[in-house]
Amino acid sequence: MKTYTENDIKLNPLEALREEHTEMRTALSKFENILKKIPAGVSDSELNEISEYLNKDVEVHFKREEDALFPVLGNYIGIETGPINVMLIEHNSCRELTGDLRKRIEVKDYKSAASAGKALIELLSEHEDKEDVILFQIAEMQLGNDEKQDIMKKMVTIN
Ligand SMILES: [Fe+2]
Ligand SMILES: [Fe+2]
Repeated sequence: MKTYTENDIKLNPLEALREEHTEMRTALSKFENILKKIPAGVSDSELNEISEYLNKDVEVHFKREEDALFPVLGNYIGIETGPINVMLIEHNSCRELTGDLRKRIEVKDYKSAASAGKALIELLSEHEDKEDVILFQIAEMQLGNDEKQDIMKKMVTIN
């Protein structure tokens, strides 16, 4: 996942997160093609690359939302219920599936790795679409410029 510098604190955090979604869509569609080659034409290093990306890069993205955006937006729409709660549940489902995928790759159970991978790609793509279409729209309406800048300041520290 891209890292930010001090110069980026002027960015709109919602646009920055949307760009991270775009980066993720590119990675996920590449992974989908790799999983399609299972079992004949796929190498362990390709599978490990997928697992690494999900474990590290996607996790950084989730943390930026959970630790920077959600607490501030939560002041308006709540965290325990409603859309933020749904997003948190989906992050955790993705984390569980990522753990599953990793284990299946480790034991070289490629067929079930492919099905876990496909389920994860589908869940993650739908999740990011929901954020783009629903959550970030709500955030654009609710958050002021000062709050956006505070969110971005926090985001640049999460790598
Ligand atoms: Fe998310
Ligand atoms: Fe997201």
